[in-house]
Amino acid sequence: MPSVPARVDAGGDPELAARLTAALRAASGDDIVIESLTHPFHSYPARMHPATSRELVMLVAESMPPRSILLDPFCGSGTTLVEARAAGLRAIGVDVNPLAVLVARAKTFTVPGRTRLKLQAVARAIAGEVLAAGRQARRATAEVAPLRGPTGFDPNARNRRLAAWFAPHVRRELEDLARHLDTLAKQDSELASVLTAALSAILYKVSSRSSDTDATWIQRNVARGACARWFLQRVELLVSGLQDLSATPGSPPEIFEADMRALGELVPAGSVGGVVTSPPYAGTYDYAEHQRLRFDFLGLRHRHLDQQEIGSRRGLTGLGAGAQWREQLGAAIDALAPLLAPGALAALVIGDSMGAGRAFFALDDVRAVLTSELALVAWASQPRPMLGAAERSAFGERGKCEHVILLRKLG
Ligand SMILES: C[S@@+](CC[C@H](N)C(=O)[O-])C[C@H]1O[C@@H](n2cnc3c(N)ncnc32)[C@H](O)[C@@H]1O
Repeated sequence: MPSVPARVDAGGDPELAARLTAALRAASGDDIVIESLTHPFHSYPARMHPATSRELVMLVAESMPPRSILLDPFCGSGTTLVEARAAGLRAIGVDVNPLAVLVARAKTFTVPGRTRLKLQAVARAIAGEVLAAGRQARRATAEVAPLRGPTGFDPNARNRRLAAWFAPHVRRELEDLARHLDTLAKQDSELASVLTAALSAILYKVSSRSSDTDATWIQRNVARGACARWFLQRVELLVSGLQDLSATPGSPPEIFEADMRALGELVPAGSVGGVVTSPPYAGTYDYAEHQRLRFDFLGLRHRHLDQQEIGSRRGLTGLGAGAQWREQLGAAIDALAPLLAPGALAALVIGDSMGAGRAFFALDDVRAVLTSELALVAWASQPRPMLGAAERSAFGERGKCEHVILLRKLG
């Protein structure tokens, strides 16, 4: 039986609304785009669906002046940057999360073929040495290797935080991989960063943390040697995706670790020809918490994320949460507007959410913070299942939706 396309409500300019509807629908049932290029490399909470991103990049690019920039100011793991790179566009990404930046840079590392080969060769050598060291460590006479101490982290506190999450043999193997990457970083920091992203990609799979968004402790049986083997497989997956991504001429996007509300310091006014982005879903995620284990293990500093993440669950609490979110979203839109060239389109993928015991209706929130520089030209909204009684009561008859909202810069 042919599947019935999911219901989507849309409004505004009919032609553009139809394109937004197609972008939302592209995600349902897609199992091709999601596995293409470097998309499957690393998990990321609330990642944009690559098929939706592809449609939106195509739509926004149609009205971009030549050589102008496609911007994703909340780039996360870089889905839109990958699609922009595949389309041969000049792109800039910004995120306040150091892990997002590490992953997005790795996923768009479109360097000459010989550098990709080197990446693969170095990963093979490191995995080989770690496997050999593991075999050696199983001999009764072997000495216990010292644990790493990333600079800026108190080694004892780091140890206490990590100890519960990894079986001793897994921890030893992971630290050994990371030690090799520390050495590599002294000769080639770029390659070391890309390989660190590959190590990050397997970290939760070998830990006792249930998933990125669920910190429940679970028993996981990880075979000896699995960390080194999975690390290498992840690098091979990345290299193959990067090869496909490099088929279009162009260069990697520029990616900044920054608070997007300070974008004016990074991107010249009027230089952005289009935006495709997905801002945080109010009160739903807590990237600082979701990735704390990765930060601790990899030695990534996250003070700015802790202070500047907008829309986080930990930041939006109590009765003032609604007003606080609109203030944060308003500041984000205000930072974005001056960068856009006249006529530029900005596509926002954003979901209704529940936080601080109340519903946040994303389309209402975006409308409420728009200033005279930007017009809402079209939108499409797809109903989302509601998970429990609390959501059903908070969302009521309107239900909960995922939206694509299209803004145009006036002037
Ligand atoms: C919905 S996610 C984006 C996911 C991304 N589209 C992807 O496909 O991976 C929202 C992102 O906003 C980032 N963020 C939150 N506050 C920010 C801020 N003040 N400046 C820049 N990025 C921020 C979060 O770190 C998170 O990566």
